[in-house]
Amino acid sequence: MSDPSPTIVIFGASGDLTQRKLIPALFNQFKKGRLPTGARIVGYARRPWSHDEFRATLSEAMNKFAPKAFDVALWDKFAANVYYHKGDLSAAEDFVALEAFLKSIEGGPGHRLYYLATAPEYYGEICMALGAAGMAAEAERATARRNIIIEKPFGTDGATADTLNQQVHTAFREKQVYRIDHYLGKETAQNLLFFRFANTIFEPLWNRNYIYSVQITVAEDVDVGHRAGYYDHAGVLRDMFQNHILQLLTLVAMEPPALFNADAIRNEKVKVLQAVRPIAADTVAQNVVRAQYRKYRDAEGVAPGSETPTYAALRFYIDNWRWQGVPFYLRSGKALATKLSEIIIQFRRPPHVMFNFPAGHRPTSNMLAIRIQPDEGIHLRFDAKVPDTAQETRPVDMEFHFRDSFGDGGLPDAYERLILDALNSEASLFTRSDEIEGAWKLMDPILQGLASPHAPPLAFYESGTWGPAEADAFIARDSRQWLVGSMPK
Ligand code: BG6
Repeated sequence: MSDPSPTIVIFGASGDLTQRKLIPALFNQFKKGRLPTGARIVGYARRPWSHDEFRATLSEAMNKFAPKAFDVALWDKFAANVYYHKGDLSAAEDFVALEAFLKSIEGGPGHRLYYLATAPEYYGEICMALGAAGMAAEAERATARRNIIIEKPFGTDGATADTLNQQVHTAFREKQVYRIDHYLGKETAQNLLFFRFANTIFEPLWNRNYIYSVQITVAEDVDVGHRAGYYDHAGVLRDMFQNHILQLLTLVAMEPPALFNADAIRNEKVKVLQAVRPIAADTVAQNVVRAQYRKYRDAEGVAPGSETPTYAALRFYIDNWRWQGVPFYLRSGKALATKLSEIIIQFRRPPHVMFNFPAGHRPTSNMLAIRIQPDEGIHLRFDAKVPDTAQETRPVDMEFHFRDSFGDGGLPDAYERLILDALNSEASLFTRSDEIEGAWKLMDPILQGLASPHAPPLAFYESGTWGPAEADAFIARDSRQWLVGSMPK
């Protein structure tokens, strides 16, 4: 007998994430015929909306945020399975009423996916309320799975993440929990594993013998916008490093898993986090640069005199055989020159040069630039002889662009893949609790150091630049410089 249709329940249904990301992602999957037949979507929030008012709000949002994907005829079919249930996140009786409503629209016991798209302070409470209302327990034979997606941020430090994990686990077993990091849903992040392990030519070089440094840049041109209320408490280290950047680092640095399954992959990622040498609180000034764009304090919701960093750059080392001595430089910021997420693998220079180069000329380092976004692709830079010269060389690029090789229809949004994976209990692209713990163990001492007398002074940068001069000086002290594969087109 086939399973009855599943139900996706979104908590925080009136919020930005639902409208900008979740509904467009679900609608796109529906268009592609990948949403299970009859799958229901139920929005839960406090506003007194009817089902039709909720549907109308979502169709307006589709027109605004994903106009290209919108298709009225298909939307009507999709919207017929969209429902709304009004309720408070802190009222136990509202969860009981929600359960009764879900039962009334479900044809029998089927799978459910709960999506926590609320403000993070409610995550623990919602999990416990779901548990208390009997909505988290699964039947023995798992014909009615109860999976839950929890948005980031998962805690604000190791201790709060631990408390949240305990609250989640009062109701859900670890295998029901899908902690989302949307960077793992990006095609280019997923491709890192294929690039490394579905090919043979790069992996033999992927170690300290050939690699001089690794740089991970996640630059954003947008500023903090209307999110200062959240951001001013979080700052760039919690907002981008603890999750997205460390996830990219694990994908670059991990050993090849023996199997392509969630546990095998995540075991290897955890080993990387355990091998990263923590930056001790009293050494942050030597290892971390923190900065703020000049106009940040003018944004609504930012505390007067706020010291929240909107930019950070830091250096990690990974203490294992593969990476010993190779610096990993990580940087991210808001209000920078352009939007660019990129991983640069900088190779060592040739050990001996036989050419008669002009005085002072050295061969450049070979460089592999893995562009996560935009203009997704991979560039390999190497030196070539300039034609019609005796011994002159110049760096040239071999380029792969997803859009040239796979059409310019654009890559699917990260949420498309992730929501369906969680519905199908496929956990490879989600963060396990020990990964969260490992990531906080690296961020906690840095955050403590930055709040202590050991902190480096807060630097400032103009919006639209590549960040503070202090970040250039920081990497220059290692006789290196920040690298960009090529400017986004
Ligand atoms: C989010 C952060 O997780 O990622 C935001 O909270 C940031 O501050 C966003 O803007 C960046 O995501 P993307 O996919 O645009 O790189």
